[in-house]
Amino acid sequence: MSIKLNYENVGLRDHELEYVRPLAEAAFGTLTRHTGPGHEMLGWLELPYTYDKEEFARIKAAAKRIQEQSQVLVVIGIGGSYLGARAGLEFVKGPFGNQLREKGVEVYFAGSNLSADYMQDILNIIGERDFSVNVISKSGTTTEPAAAFRIFRAELERRYGISGARDRIYATTDRTKGALREMAEQKGYKTFVVPDNIGGRFSCLSAVGLLPMAAGGMDIDRVMEGCLHSCEVYENPNFLGNDVMLYAALRFLMLMKGKRVELLASYEPALTMFGEWYKQLMAESEGKDGKGLFPVSANFTTDLHSIGQFIQDGSRIMFETVLWVEHTRHTLTIPNDPVNADGLNFAAGVSLQEMNEKAMKGTLLAHVDGGAPNLIITLDRLDDYTFGELVYFFWKSLAVSGYMIGVNPFDQPGVEAYKKNMFALLGKPGYENMQEALEARLKS
Ligand code: PA5
Repeated sequence: MSIKLNYENVGLRDHELEYVRPLAEAAFGTLTRHTGPGHEMLGWLELPYTYDKEEFARIKAAAKRIQEQSQVLVVIGIGGSYLGARAGLEFVKGPFGNQLREKGVEVYFAGSNLSADYMQDILNIIGERDFSVNVISKSGTTTEPAAAFRIFRAELERRYGISGARDRIYATTDRTKGALREMAEQKGYKTFVVPDNIGGRFSCLSAVGLLPMAAGGMDIDRVMEGCLHSCEVYENPNFLGNDVMLYAALRFLMLMKGKRVELLASYEPALTMFGEWYKQLMAESEGKDGKGLFPVSANFTTDLHSIGQFIQDGSRIMFETVLWVEHTRHTLTIPNDPVNADGLNFAAGVSLQEMNEKAMKGTLLAHVDGGAPNLIITLDRLDDYTFGELVYFFWKSLAVSGYMIGVNPFDQPGVEAYKKNMFALLGKPGYENMQEALEARLKS
């Protein structure tokens, strides 16, 4: 595996893992036998074997077509419909992938907020350049992407006419139903499928994530190979030989010991969006029935100068899962400076990666001493293959972990509450009764 789990710094006694072993094995069995709550949403579990090869070929062809017709792809979607693709592109291409333009088109993500400035800025970045749109929504009625799609579709139609716009719109949606499916069929857009048995936060290795990743220059064959490798390795029913079960068990033990927050910390800015993807996966899957660890993410060393104080010394509610990358894409060394005004000559000749590693090890010891246990997940490098491996590792660990704490990890009933209030306040038909009551509450 190009990913390895190390739990030497969580401060556990041997019997503690043994104690939760039966629970982890039972949860693992429930998952793999498809007998737990939400089992109808397990399409991701065997995805590397079962994915639609014909659609996969169409995704690659569409990505090539996008690269031929445009310099920019605007991906419209929210939550599970965009986080994985954005995480993947930054994982592999780094945070400046759009500016470096090494491979693929520039990819910008819209429809994940309602900010006019954010949307207009994307229009300004596109400028006079050619662009295409990949709109991703299972329902087709989610407010944020629907609003963004209206704006970008209008711009496409203004520039290229109705038929030119049709040629540049790629819709990823439900196979048979929903507002976007109906519109796509009526207007003649090319379509891709959000599988029925895969929820949004597990969908990034379906067409939902694969089309933007491929258009942006990722090698999606390698992504699926990495995912397949993980799938094979983590079939192992031996508790101590399966990092998926171990990670789930360790998270469970942390919860039992009073930790309420898991901080996913990385030392590569390229992993910032991976942290966002992880937060949705964990929070939407486990944060229910009054249970779950609250997932947060941070970039070190950057955030050591902001939230580092709290981690070291604040409420003892947190443990850390550190993502450490062994091999970076580039090597840089600290130059010698004869003046040495900054006093940094002690590190002259040291590579930045070595410095980063010392920072990681020093931080780990300090945080563990301060009462924040640390798990380490080491990644060989940030490439397409490792992305596929890591995504699957987190999916399966989370599913085991969700069953261990006794929730249905595959639904998200809590996401609806804000939407209903927003619809009522906007005067959407059907919400009239709620509107009056909410406005009265806001006035008081
Ligand atoms: O994980 C989820 O289910 C959500 O984040 C959805 O992906 C998100 O709400 C988008 O929904 P839709 O695809 O219907 O627009």
